[in-house]
Amino acid sequence: MARIVVLYNTDYDAEQATLTGLDVTSVRESAKAITRALAEAGHTVELTGVHGIEVYSVLATIREQKHDLLFNLCESMDNNSLNEPTFAGLLDLFGIRYTGADLLALASCLHKQRTKDILLANNVPTPPYRYLVDDGSLADPALEALDYPWFVKLAHEDASLGITEANLVHDVAELRTRSRELMTEFKQAVIAERYVAGREINVTVLGNGSTARTLPLHEIDFAAMPSDRPHIVSYAAKWEESHVDYVGTKPVPLRAATPELVAAVEAVALAAYRAIELRDYGRVDLRVDAEGRPWVIDVNPNPDISPDAGASRAAAAAGLSYPLFVGEIARIALAR
Ligand SMILES: Nc1ncnc2c1ncn2[C@@H]1O[C@H](COP(=O)(O)OP(=O)(O)O)[C@@H](O)[C@H]1O
Ligand SMILES: [Mg+2]
Repeated sequence: MARIVVLYNTDYDAEQATLTGLDVTSVRESAKAITRALAEAGHTVELTGVHGIEVYSVLATIREQKHDLLFNLCESMDNNSLNEPTFAGLLDLFGIRYTGADLLALASCLHKQRTKDILLANNVPTPPYRYLVDDGSLADPALEALDYPWFVKLAHEDASLGITEANLVHDVAELRTRSRELMTEFKQAVIAERYVAGREINVTVLGNGSTARTLPLHEIDFAAMPSDRPHIVSYAAKWEESHVDYVGTKPVPLRAATPELVAAVEAVALAAYRAIELRDYGRVDLRVDAEGRPWVIDVNPNPDISPDAGASRAAAAAGLSYPLFVGEIARIALAR
């Protein structure tokens, strides 16, 4: 059994949390649940927070304590999620062994245009895209000739931040209007990609190299979505329990899928996981088009593994209780 320190970020203060919609207490609750699960799995566990530039003293202390493993739940530092990769880089600098993705993979996913470039270069199916940084790129006449509908999203966010039904755009005017709104509100670039109408499937992956494996697939059940609303997981769908989109986007185990579809989805998800060089655990989100072809729309390193998260449900479907699931991630990281 190992000595493990669980590390999470404490930076999002109340004001910032309201601005970004991030719930700081849920980050702490999740870290506590993971700590309890590791203890139940038989490890000696400690829980530590990091806020910002005091990171050096925190890491110096952890280094002295000679833990076997740091369970990395640090998603930002100093109120900025762009510091998530930086933190992994510091762990490497301090020679501390940690769970999950390294600096390069975290940064690749934090910059969605990079994720897309890597997937495309490795022939992993992902919709064609444009990277839109300012009014200049929005003025590009080539945008008029795209095969609409397309979908726009923030280049540097996750958890459906900035996603509403308006992100599904049917012509260049809608694309320009919604992209400009997003750039103004969130002060960052946007990517636009072809909209894939069809089922949305989430694949949790565990492991490294040739032994990486998929857990039982889940999908979004859109049956309760009002007929006038697009089948997407909007911000409201994810976070606002009383919203119609919340009820209309129920995560369920994959139903009525042919073995061919399951095999194709698993193969594409594993190819994406390997192309981005994720480690230990991850989640790949895909959409399946009318011809039954899967397309990768999102690659998530260090995905949410709270007890009620999709990854934990997938683990349960594979027969892994919560302590076994979290313990398995630690085991995989220690075996690297
Ligand atoms: N190309 C696309 N085609 C169809 N739906 C999409 C596409 N891209 C994103 N979506 C919808 O938007 C949601 C959020 O987009 P995603 O790329 O997963 O961003 P996030 O990092 O915020 O999770 C997805 O769960 C999906 O419902
Ligand atoms: Mg996603």
